Parts: sequence; structure tokens; C-alpha cells
Amino acid sequence: MNNKITIKPYAPNIGAIITGIDLSKEISNSELKIIKDAFHKFLVIFFQEQFEITPENHIKLGKCFGDLHIHPAAPKMKNFPEIFEIHTDKNSKISNGAEDFHSDVSCDIKPPLGTMLQLHILPESGGDTMFANMYMAYDALSNPMKQFLDELNASHESEHFYKGRYSKIDENIKCPSAIHPVVRTHPVTKKKALYVNRFFTTQIEGLSKHESKLILNYLFKHCEKTEFQIRYRWKQNDMAFWDNRCTLHKAIWDYFPNERKGRRVTIKGDKPF
Ligand code: SIN
Repeated sequence: MNNKITIKPYAPNIGAIITGIDLSKEISNSELKIIKDAFHKFLVIFFQEQFEITPENHIKLGKCFGDLHIHPAAPKMKNFPEIFEIHTDKNSKISNGAEDFHSDVSCDIKPPLGTMLQLHILPESGGDTMFANMYMAYDALSNPMKQFLDELNASHESEHFYKGRYSKIDENIKCPSAIHPVVRTHPVTKKKALYVNRFFTTQIEGLSKHESKLILNYLFKHCEKTEFQIRYRWKQNDMAFWDNRCTLHKAIWDYFPNERKGRRVTIKGDKPF
């Protein structure tokens, strides 16, 4: 691997490609600083020209950014409960569960701050992942709308989603729920980001069901405007590292019956404020 580290924006509004850091080896303090800075600046970073990293090294790498979060409901990889395996092929009756824009496990009281996903097997075509910038989504709102939303909290629930998907595999799954601000402040950058998503956000507190549904549907559509987004085309062994506090993402389910496989870890976050 060439040792010169390069960081190139993927698109003007979100994302960057990083080369020159070999994630299969221990990362140095200076590399760690470069990665953290790029993560906060670009919101999602894609490490290219990588080797497949072992589950042990993936866990070790994730821990450079904090303690690891364990998914409350998804099946655990044998011996590695921190790893969430992403896998669909010709036998998959449903997608990998990421086909709508979401922030990972936002139903947890302390949702994961970030996710590191490496894909090892890619379909011949398709299987891209989309990411959207939630600072931009917030900034694009009018001042009166910002003021209205700044005061609101919303429920994030998971039972409707996890029960059908995971309870056949394990009857003892946890289906957490939490109340989070509709607009959260990023603890590092201090910037405000919209924090609602189609998978988990079910009701804005204090509004009637009808009002909440209207506002949430408006916000979901707003967050998904193409100008806030990128669409990432994976190469084998690319590692994506996204910030769940200020982005949404969606895996496009367009490649069935081809195989797509990888592993992800998530890093524990704080209670949103
Ligand atoms: C996920 O939400 O972690 C899955 C993303 C993907 O499969 O591209």
C-alpha cells in the first residue's frame, strides 16, 4: 500500500475517500487523528484499497473510536457479539433491513455514534449505499420551522421493525425505544442536525397523531432531498465509517439474487441532546 495518505471529497456536501491507511494493521496516533478530523469534517469516510480485515481486527479498529455498541436484536456473529454480519443472496427473502433512510439503532437511549462497515463480497452491479447530510437538512429549513422543531422531542421505537425481522431467529430479542430531540446538537462539532428517520421515529411528543404524522412525513421527505445526498458505489473491501449523529443512510436493495456480504461494528454514543 502506498503510504501517502490522501483525502478527497466524494461530493461537495458529504463524504470523502481516504487512501494510504492500511486498516488491517494497527493504526498510529497520527493516523487516528487524521481519521477523526476527516470523520467530523466529511460525516462519512470511505477507506479504499483495503484488505479484508478479520473480525478481531475489525473490533480492535472500532475500539479506537470508543467502546463498541451491541445491536439489541440482530443475530450475533459466533464468538463476536460486537459484529453485525451483512449478508444477502439468492436465498434471502428480504433485504438486509436498511432499505429506507435511517440512523443506526436510533431507538436506543444511547444510539451508536458511528458505524464501520466493510464489504467483502459485492454483487456484479448495484448494492450501493446512500448517505444524507442532516446538518444541511436542518440548515435548509426556514427560521420559524427551525424554532418550532428545536423545542420538540420524538419517540424512536423498534418493535414494529425488529419483531417481524429478528424474532424468528431469537425469541428473546430486545426492542428498545427512546425519546430524542428532533434536532440534536453534535457533541464534537456543536452543529445542529435533524434527527428523525423513517425506520424508528414514530411520534412527535405533544402533537396529535395527525399533526405528528404530517410533520414527520414532511421531515422524512425533506431529509431525503437529493442535494443532501451521495450514492456510494462500493469496491471490494472498502470500509465506510459514517457518523450516525448527523447523517442518514440507506442500502439500495436492487441486486437480488446476487450476493452481498460484509461485517460492521458500531461505536457507542451519548444520549442525544
Ligand atoms: C447498514 O445500515 O448498516 C447497512 C448498510 C449497507 O448494507 O450498505
